[in-house]
Amino acid sequence: MSESKSTTGALSELRRLLPYVQRYRSRTALGLLFITLSNICSTTVPHVVGTTIDAVKSSGTTQSDLVWLISQIIALTIGSGFFMFCTRRTIIVMSRLVEEDLRNDFVNALRVQPSKFFHDRSTGSLLAHFSNDIGSVREFIGPAIMYTANTITTFAFALSWMVNLNGWLSIAILIPVPLVSTLTYRLGRRIHASYRIVQEHYEHITTHAQETASGIRVVRAYARGEDESERFDQLSRDYYSKNMRLARIQAMMMPGMTVLFNLSYVIVIGVGGWLVARNELTVGELTQFFIYLNQLLWPIAAIGWVTSMIQRGAASIGRLGAIIDAPSTIVSGNASTGQINGKVEFRNVTLRYDGRSDVLQDVSFSIAPGESLGIVGSVGSGKSSIIGLLPRLYDVSEGSVLIDGHDVRQYQLGTLRAGIAVVPQESFLFSDTIRENIRFGRPTATDQEVAHAAEIAQLPTDISTLPGGFDTVVGERGVTLSGGQKQRTSLARAIVSDPRILILDDALSAVDASTEERIMSGLENVMKGRTTIVISHRISTVQRCSTIIVLDKGKIVESGSHDELLQRRGLYFDMYERQQLEQQIS
Ligand SMILES: Nc1ncnc2c1ncn2[C@@H]1O[C@H](COP(=O)(O)OP(=O)(O)OP(=O)(O)O)[C@@H](O)[C@H]1O
Ligand SMILES: [Mg+2]
Repeated sequence: MSESKSTTGALSELRRLLPYVQRYRSRTALGLLFITLSNICSTTVPHVVGTTIDAVKSSGTTQSDLVWLISQIIALTIGSGFFMFCTRRTIIVMSRLVEEDLRNDFVNALRVQPSKFFHDRSTGSLLAHFSNDIGSVREFIGPAIMYTANTITTFAFALSWMVNLNGWLSIAILIPVPLVSTLTYRLGRRIHASYRIVQEHYEHITTHAQETASGIRVVRAYARGEDESERFDQLSRDYYSKNMRLARIQAMMMPGMTVLFNLSYVIVIGVGGWLVARNELTVGELTQFFIYLNQLLWPIAAIGWVTSMIQRGAASIGRLGAIIDAPSTIVSGNASTGQINGKVEFRNVTLRYDGRSDVLQDVSFSIAPGESLGIVGSVGSGKSSIIGLLPRLYDVSEGSVLIDGHDVRQYQLGTLRAGIAVVPQESFLFSDTIRENIRFGRPTATDQEVAHAAEIAQLPTDISTLPGGFDTVVGERGVTLSGGQKQRTSLARAIVSDPRILILDDALSAVDASTEERIMSGLENVMKGRTTIVISHRISTVQRCSTIIVLDKGKIVESGSHDELLQRRGLYFDMYERQQLEQQIS
């Protein structure tokens, strides 16, 4: 990438930050005012010091004159420090606020991403963005604004004092500027490049650590602990060596700057000493120049440093922006459709994930409100894919899915999803109490409603054995529920959400037959007048449904009521026979 291209790229990335900074413009403006005041104070100090030195040398100075000059120096120093403190209190606070906003936007952006987004990325890499990139944007935004303003104001005030004193010496002081800035810029870029490698490697490490932690049962069950540690050791060693490379480059910064700084002192001493010898400059004025040089060196170094920091921040904001602005392929409709009633219709639906082969082919069926639909079919036949189309986790490739006669794509996503509750195949519980996990379905649910839902899901006996009852924390660092308990908790969550359309995706697979029977008959009452879709491998789960469809390789091969399907003596009948036999054997 050419330099100019990367700079314009960086600028357009940085434009993204503008709205964030604008939100805090009064704070930022105040910060800039403080930094100006601070630098007015600090750049006046050398002038007073120079005057003091010359005053000491001259004969007509009284003691009170000296006291007055020294108190001025003290007051200006304190003033400069105080305003610098105020600058940090405003600009650094602003950068923290921007960080907070970015973090919220990032999480909100994740919330609206389609399922595909999460299939394409690992949790570890999202976490790395979350911690590293947001952090580096914040580090850049505060210091970059602060250092830039500092450099500009220090230069402006110090130069005006210096030029006033002696033009030639001022020019001599500026000779090292390009050298120092170039050094910090070049090193800054190399540090940046090497930093990015470290960052990317960090993503691998977090992904690995996160997967080992969440997949610890599998790792143990297959006795892969040793291999996994070895792989992790390797990753860690790489991470170490990449960090060492970064440290080596960073280590060149200080010595390089010290050399250049000292070179600047030599220039000032040489030129300044010569001017003093020719009586064109007083010793006090030379001292004054020395202090200015000291004050200017850091801002000079900051020019290059800030430039490279801007590029780094731009890279981070670019990566974040790619996520924050990722176009959601699932765009909410805006028809004012009102509440969902529950009529569901699939019209010639075909679904392909990422343009691969058809997962669903020409699927058509309809369910009247209050009716129930059972879906059976072999593994991978497309059952979960069918129901993912209703809350629009995916959109159809061809055909249409209608609810109450409207295409689901016309609904506002909020309305659509509020009307549908899915108990997914893999239950997921948050690390929170059982009560809150159930209430997640509808945050306004009362304790009674939660208890009632738990009752339908046949949870109370399980809950009574837990140490804290409903208030037992589950999941990470809490008690671990059995597979069946998790499924029923997640069922209770769906029940409490009071949906118009309830979908159970193999949601009772880990529950024994008699409990399942009790749950299904309890559900019948709850679901009166609502639509239910039940997916199952077990015929016993779906046999009460008004209609049952049998899927095979993404196509509906049979449909009808339980009795009709048995009479047909097709696939459904075979499944039924086999399962009856299995039941008799066990
Ligand atoms: N997000 C996805 N991206 C790509 N392919 C997918 C995705 N989800 C499912 N598939 C594929 O679609 C096919 C149908 O999957 P689906 O999950 O709908 O089957 P299923 O009938 O629910 O199976 P099971 O009984 O095991 O739950 C499978 O071949 C699967 O590999
Ligand atoms: Mg499935």
